[in-house]
Amino acid sequence: MPLPFLASLFFDGLPPWAPEPVRLAQITATLAAAGLTKWYSSGRRNPSERNMHGRVVLMTGGTSGIGASTALELARRGAQLVLLTREPPSDPFLVEYIDDLRSRSGNQLIYAEQVNLADLHSIRQFATKWIDNSPPRRLDMIVLCADTMTPPGGKRLETPQGIEMTWMVNFLANFHLLAILSPAIRAQPFDRDVRIIVPTCSTYIASPRIDASLLDAVSTKGGGADKNWSPHAAYARSKLALMTFAKAYQKHLDAYKRPDELPMMAKVVLVDPGLARTPGMRRWLTRGSLWGLLLYLIFYGLVWLLLKSPHMAAQSLLYAAMDGNFLRLSGGRLIKECMEVDCARKDVDDEAAAKKLWESSDKLIERAEKEMAIKRAKAKKEQEKKEEEAKKAAQVEEIESLVDAIRKGKAREAQKKAAKDGKGTGKTGKTTGSAKK
Ligand SMILES: NC(=O)c1ccc[n+]([C@@H]2O[C@H](COP(=O)([O-])OP(=O)(O)OC[C@H]3O[C@@H](n4cnc5c(N)ncnc54)[C@H](OP(=O)(O)O)[C@@H]3O)[C@@H](O)[C@H]2O)c1
Repeated sequence: MPLPFLASLFFDGLPPWAPEPVRLAQITATLAAAGLTKWYSSGRRNPSERNMHGRVVLMTGGTSGIGASTALELARRGAQLVLLTREPPSDPFLVEYIDDLRSRSGNQLIYAEQVNLADLHSIRQFATKWIDNSPPRRLDMIVLCADTMTPPGGKRLETPQGIEMTWMVNFLANFHLLAILSPAIRAQPFDRDVRIIVPTCSTYIASPRIDASLLDAVSTKGGGADKNWSPHAAYARSKLALMTFAKAYQKHLDAYKRPDELPMMAKVVLVDPGLARTPGMRRWLTRGSLWGLLLYLIFYGLVWLLLKSPHMAAQSLLYAAMDGNFLRLSGGRLIKECMEVDCARKDVDDEAAAKKLWESSDKLIERAEKEMAIKRAKAKKEQEKKEEEAKKAAQVEEIESLVDAIRKGKAREAQKKAAKDGKGTGKTGKTTGSAKK
């Protein structure tokens, strides 16, 4: 069929139903431009392969978007995944998701542990449980994909401890988790290729510098006022803080003196996956509204053309997870499109800013955890008091019902006796009567 058609094109020229040559050239040029745009916006594919069998990977955000694609690819290569999820492992949707991930990857070693990244206590509970193991548990990789973003026009949200939500989930949760897991990372054998993969976003370029006023603003309970808050500014500063911390964390790991005097090999890798069509991005584009969703569907062709699929966005993360060169290089590098790029902001390497960020985050966590511990202790006391009162009430009720039963028993006995006495009196009357006769 194609051959006769091509032959007739060659000998007889364009068929009558075909568009004119100019129109045809326009259509071809448009399609070629669209193809090129799509090819460019999809980004590069990961060129590095590696067998991940036996490797233990802790992962946040593995249930959605780029994180879900990364989880699937790592599981396909045999990694043992521990997904840190907001919901408990018994949640029916999560059970189904993990079942699906297991069957698609052919890997049964995928588990979930509940860690709500908006809750410092939940993070501490998981991380202390993880490090409380002797000998130390195997840990090859931590992938920190979870994040949150308020859609444009949305309201500023806070945790119950007064910490701005974007700062909490995108930065402070990762800071807290890595700070507690630090002994577990440092305890890995020298020759284990340990990687901490930190996804970021180019919005960090627009963030104001990390200084005292920015650090005060993220927690209004600490006395700060978040006057310049906007969803975009909050997201940008959380990413700049995350990158500054990630670089400082690499230095913190490098500075550790191992008991065997061998160098620390753990590497932090920052990754900018590029813009992708993930649920988070959809929420942001649609402003979380139905009208937004309608517009999103109408212009989906454009979104498809310009944004990557989650699978393509995961390529740089997979490169950071699998490329062998990271072993030989120093940590703290930024990867974009499966290659190393420079950070657009020099202040991510500013040691003074990193120190200020680290200290103020420690202080904030200490204050919030103390407050939470007092609240938990109060709640526990109240619960105990309620239980004590309920126990006393139950005892009083039991005694009262016992007294009531005794009283009723006595009353019944008295009634019986009275009835007996009544009968006896009746007999006596009769006897008396006959005696009269
Ligand atoms: N998408 C993009 O265009 C883009 C661009 C540049 C960089 N990035 C980066 O890539 C990473 C992934 O982005 P994405 O768009 O794929 O994200 P996403 O689809 O919005 O998914 C966010 C993930 O974070 C989890 N999460 C949110 N709040 C949580 C909490 N309190 N506790 C535990 N888990 C929580 C979500 O869990 P649930 O499933 O329970 O909601 C979900 O798995 C992010 O670090 C982002 O900054 C993305």
